[in-house]
Amino acid sequence: MILFKTMRYEDLVYIDKTHIWHPFTQMQEWIENQPIIIEKGKGSYLIDIQGNKYLDGVSSLWTNVHGHNNPTINKAISAQLKKIAHSTFLGLSNVAAIEFTERLIEIVPNNLSRVFFSDNGSTSVEVALKIAYQYWQQHPVSQNKTKKKFISFHNAYHGDTLGSVSVGGIDLFHGVYSSLLFDTIKVAYPYALKEKLSQGESEQKSLNELEKILQAQSHNIAALIIEPLMQGASGMLNTTATYLQKVRQLTKTYNVLMIVDEVATGFGRTGAMFACDKANIQPDIMCMAKGISGGYLPLAATLTTEDIFNNFLGNYSENKTFFHGHTYTANQLACSAGLASLKLFEKNNILERLQEKIIILIAGLQEIGKLLPVAQIRQEGFMIGIEIYQDKENHIPFPSSQKIGYRICQEAIRCGVFLRPLGDTLILMPPLSISKKELKLLLEITKHSIIKILEDDK
Ligand SMILES: Cc1ncc(COP(=O)(O)O)c(C=O)c1O
Repeated sequence: MILFKTMRYEDLVYIDKTHIWHPFTQMQEWIENQPIIIEKGKGSYLIDIQGNKYLDGVSSLWTNVHGHNNPTINKAISAQLKKIAHSTFLGLSNVAAIEFTERLIEIVPNNLSRVFFSDNGSTSVEVALKIAYQYWQQHPVSQNKTKKKFISFHNAYHGDTLGSVSVGGIDLFHGVYSSLLFDTIKVAYPYALKEKLSQGESEQKSLNELEKILQAQSHNIAALIIEPLMQGASGMLNTTATYLQKVRQLTKTYNVLMIVDEVATGFGRTGAMFACDKANIQPDIMCMAKGISGGYLPLAATLTTEDIFNNFLGNYSENKTFFHGHTYTANQLACSAGLASLKLFEKNNILERLQEKIIILIAGLQEIGKLLPVAQIRQEGFMIGIEIYQDKENHIPFPSSQKIGYRICQEAIRCGVFLRPLGDTLILMPPLSISKKELKLLLEITKHSIIKILEDDK
């Protein structure tokens, strides 16, 4: 029997490969390779069991805000742990969730006043979809009961549960489940590079398509769901703030709820607290997760207006209750981490200090953009996608069998920077607390890795 205290790398690898099933991973390849096993973290770095350090270039799947092992968040969680780790939110409330809510409400668009907690991005979207659907079913204007459908976007990613997959649009991830999903109306999300259009033309095309659908079908449509300013998992596809404002305007004109999925964009990622702030829009429903707890613990929230909330009020026998909840809803440890994170945003002027770092990023990315295979760089603050093509002039991507994105990231890992691609788009999403020196290293290693792999293939 292996004693856990003395487990060495080989023992851990054996158990991992024998018993663990990793997410979004072809396990056959995983088993054939040697995994990195993380034991610790400090600031912007992950440290593995063998003592190797990796700059966390993707913030541990876009979650980490203030760095790993942050003393303030550690302290807040420890203090909460001395009181209680978890009590149910069904039939009870708790201090940590209330204190966190008070702070959260202060930083979201001011029409949002109700918080429904869950524990990951997918569930925050499930909640949003069900609330939007039920809202119209019990709307005082009874003709609105026909409003049952959702508009979502091609290439969208809203999570992996079946509701969130239904409003998703990435065939590679979702195609196999198609017969399990409910129908949604899909609109093209601007993707200027693929469409061979200018950004303006691509956005206008999408808006025209959206308006046409709304004109014809708004009486059947409950809500539109969108990743604001930046579609993340599709490979970082960005739009202008004007595009998002126009989408908001159309949803208002046609009496359709607007759900913004800020799971990836929220908590400073785009350079503002929320993407909605950058575009100065107020959605009807907002989903958030990932950075909500500073990247510490599973926590998510779906926020709504008071108007939506009021539509769920009534005597119990009226059946207007929102019958939805998760066991770990509003977990105290996660809420205490979330509160500590929001305090750090304020105390450390995170958003203000981020602007300087964004300027460094822009400069570094301009250099990377000059490399021959870089077809397009899409950036919104601290969310970056670098798309690699075989032939930029003639719009020819690499064959997927060449695994260019994956191999470039492997080279970066070899150089001590952890990156994970989306197809042939390299993703840079460092913790907001990354130092300028570390940021420069991230850019340098990214550039080196692109050059190295392309040279190797010559
Ligand atoms: C925009 C968006 N929504 C939802 C999700 C799903 O979040 P989770 O993985 O926490 O379920 C993600 C995850 O990447 C996301 O980027």
